[in-house]
Amino acid sequence: MCAKTIETENISYETLLQGNRDWVKDTIDNDPNFFNKLSEGQNPPVLWIGCSDSRVPANQITNTKPGDIFVHRNIANVVVHTDMNMLSVLDYSVNVLKVKHVIVCGHYGCGGVKAALGNKQVGIIDNWLRNIRDVYRTHEREMATIKDSDQRFDRLVELNTIEGASNIMNTSIVQAAWANGQDLAVHACVYSLKTGIIKDMKVTCNCLDDVAPAFKVG
Ligand code: CO
Repeated sequence: MCAKTIETENISYETLLQGNRDWVKDTIDNDPNFFNKLSEGQNPPVLWIGCSDSRVPANQITNTKPGDIFVHRNIANVVVHTDMNMLSVLDYSVNVLKVKHVIVCGHYGCGGVKAALGNKQVGIIDNWLRNIRDVYRTHEREMATIKDSDQRFDRLVELNTIEGASNIMNTSIVQAAWANGQDLAVHACVYSLKTGIIKDMKVTCNCLDDVAPAFKVG
């Protein structure tokens, strides 16, 4: 390793390690068995699919603890059928962990969605965000009726999240679970950076009856 140290404004690598030691101490003070229990295994009832944004950490904003939520995050919480990473997480969650809820959670003010709305080239990520442009195109008529650009941005965040949940429902993984009578609900919701509140998009689906015929497998 070379001698140079990499400084950031208020968080260094050492700060993180110290933070970890402080957290371990507080956690054990609060529950001496915390790590013993968690090290035996996990049984989370929820899979969370969210944005990588540093301001939207699944556990904190839902007031849950380690062990409660299985998490998959990517830029702009995009759900596409060809993403092996997402499919592996979903398959493991549904078929091994037997989660009861899959939650796709977007957030207002999402930089990824904003970039998809513009024409500026950013780099490799443009290809990833292309999926959100497809969401825009699918809902072009509704989007065209929204004159205010902030409102249009908010709505695309919502539609991208709803579309993501819909893509989850349309996977063979979720449909097979439903066909086998497994208890599993898929939800879409959006987090507000300004208020901290999570808004349910009211598209929850928990059985095959709700799946559009075009997407039914088997
Ligand atoms: Co985001």
